[in-house]
Amino acid sequence: MKILITGASSGLGKALAETYADGDNHLFLLGRDKKNLSEVKKNCEDKGAKVEVKIIDVCERGEMQKYITSICQKTGLDLVIANAGISGGTAGGPENDEQIYKIFDTNLMGMLNTIQPVLPYLKEKRKGQILIISSLGGYVALPSCPAYSASKAAVRFYGNALADSVAEYNIDIRVVSPGYIKTPLTDKNNFWMPFLMEADEAARIIQIKAENSANPNIAFPGPFYFCTWFIGILWRRLSRYLLRQLPKK
Ligand SMILES: NC(=O)c1ccc[n+]([C@@H]2O[C@H](COP(=O)([O-])OP(=O)(O)OC[C@H]3O[C@@H](n4cnc5c(N)ncnc54)[C@H](OP(=O)(O)O)[C@@H]3O)[C@@H](O)[C@H]2O)c1
Repeated sequence: MKILITGASSGLGKALAETYADGDNHLFLLGRDKKNLSEVKKNCEDKGAKVEVKIIDVCERGEMQKYITSICQKTGLDLVIANAGISGGTAGGPENDEQIYKIFDTNLMGMLNTIQPVLPYLKEKRKGQILIISSLGGYVALPSCPAYSASKAAVRFYGNALADSVAEYNIDIRVVSPGYIKTPLTDKNNFWMPFLMEADEAARIIQIKAENSANPNIAFPGPFYFCTWFIGILWRRLSRYLLRQLPKK
């Protein structure tokens, strides 16, 4: 398979690259940190995969369009994973003004810049899969990180709606909503994170569910997903009260 992954230089993206790395796969790994990307490339090549890396900012729409279109024309793509994302806050403060705009730009526009260029190619091929990395934090309106929470909710709504809108072309679009994963993104959090899982475990769950289930939403771990769902259906005043008790990012 030909697989493109954004944010492959670190955390979940790195784990996904290493999970999908085998002799059958040709990986296109995108990120901005050259040193980290080179390390991931080597790890994946050691597992037998063919690997190309690209230093690119997902917020650069023109550059993303040019690069992804050129891959579609030269080698083709079977799977695209829109993973690059950021959060804000840290150490007890809310997201600041600059972070708020950057979060929407990266998490929402960066996702669009990744998947829009590939859609015409997949429609023509009438085959392919897209995984959009959202978060369980997008299932509830989190006062601790409004921009992150809203950006991930938007990503999920877009992915679910798009899945139905392109279903006739046989394009399989899934929205992946994990709970807490141990990565540089969460290493900054100085509060207890329930059901925290390792990145390689999360990547394995994503690969298995993407290959073996037909559910448009891949949300895990189950108990944490249940909690977010339950809070979501609670009487609004009560859920707001509970969510306000959560630690500030
Ligand atoms: N960790 C969690 O608990 C958790 C839970 C649910 C969902 N998620 C989601 O999982 C995804 C990966 O997060 P992570 O935890 O693995 O964080 P991470 O370790 O900080 O990795 C983020 C990745 O995104 C890339 N990235 C960020 N901004 C970019 C930009 N403008 N252009 C290109 N690449 C950019 C980074 O690349 P460079 O460093 O090379 O710039 C890095 O590879 C995110 O979408 C996040 O929201 C994470």
